[in-house]
Amino acid sequence: MNIEKCYFGEAFGKAVDKYTLTVDSGMSVSIITLGGAVNKLLVPDREGKLADVVGGYDDLADYVEGDGYQGAIIGRFGNRIAKGTFTLDGVDYKLFINNGPNHLHGGRLGFSHKVWDAEAGIEEDGCTLTLRYTSPDGEEGYPGTLKVTVTYKLSQDNALSIKYHAVTDKKTVLNLTNHTYFNLGGFASGKIFDHELWIDADSFLETDETLIPTGKKISVEGTAFDFRTPKTIGRDFDLSYEPLRIAGGYDHCMNFTKRAEPMSEARARVYEQRSGRVMEVWTDQPCVQFYSGNFLNNPDHDFKGGYKQGLQNMFCLETQKMPDSVNRPDFTDCTLDVGETYETITVYKFLTK
Ligand code: BGC
Repeated sequence: MNIEKCYFGEAFGKAVDKYTLTVDSGMSVSIITLGGAVNKLLVPDREGKLADVVGGYDDLADYVEGDGYQGAIIGRFGNRIAKGTFTLDGVDYKLFINNGPNHLHGGRLGFSHKVWDAEAGIEEDGCTLTLRYTSPDGEEGYPGTLKVTVTYKLSQDNALSIKYHAVTDKKTVLNLTNHTYFNLGGFASGKIFDHELWIDADSFLETDETLIPTGKKISVEGTAFDFRTPKTIGRDFDLSYEPLRIAGGYDHCMNFTKRAEPMSEARARVYEQRSGRVMEVWTDQPCVQFYSGNFLNNPDHDFKGGYKQGLQNMFCLETQKMPDSVNRPDFTDCTLDVGETYETITVYKFLTK
């Protein structure tokens, strides 16, 4: 096992470093301190050959200006908040509007655009990178000074875990996630339609044209969203089906059939047949945003090695609470009070078959 650190550039007047954590199988993860973004993830295939399976940029400026939140920690609130407003204990809060009429992924300069303090360490069974950021009261419109710690761990059994921890000094709302884009054949290998996907979710959230949940939970039964039996992402990818038309593909909150809390089994699994790579998602969170990369056609920002991504070339499985839950008492609770500790974990485990 080993850890390397190098300078990656400068953003917002601060030096940004890149840490590479490597375990004995050869698997490694590179994380930059801007946004705590996973920049590279080398994973063995069934022959032991490594490929980089995540999206990202070579150039720091692309992380600052590019969209898509490649690999980044998302906060304070994953996904959209309708019209960027909510009321907490009778007080109205106004957030930055950065996605049509709505607030998305923490706003103009959310956690994806902060330079985090970093500390690396080697443990008996893996390497860690601990990232810390204190978000001031009122940042992007959110109440409370929030102290956040995110710990990445790459373990000897080829699992990348992400632990989130936060405390606040005033009642607030919080929904942290990670926005890594995957293509298990390698990030530059084209469409994801052949990936076989299993998600143990029995319903998904209907959205309006601005991708805000309407409040309706739809049963996956008999729909393109039924991944309870593994099927390829492409099989039912039909944009004439209304929910897929609205979003340009899959971009929906899938509600797990059961909570695995404490984490006892995988909630989602992806298999790429040519390489044999399998990725399992283990989490204590109630939902996952399955996003099939429907906006990945930004010609101004080349991906690593100059690669141009196209629509549905990578997917995200963002474990989270329900989008816009700040405005819907019947959705998952997303408040964090003084004296409480926000603690969640998600693990992406890699295997082959
Ligand atoms: C959202 C998409 C959005 C993408 C990139 C995903 O989490 O669900 O609608 O376009 O992030 O910003």
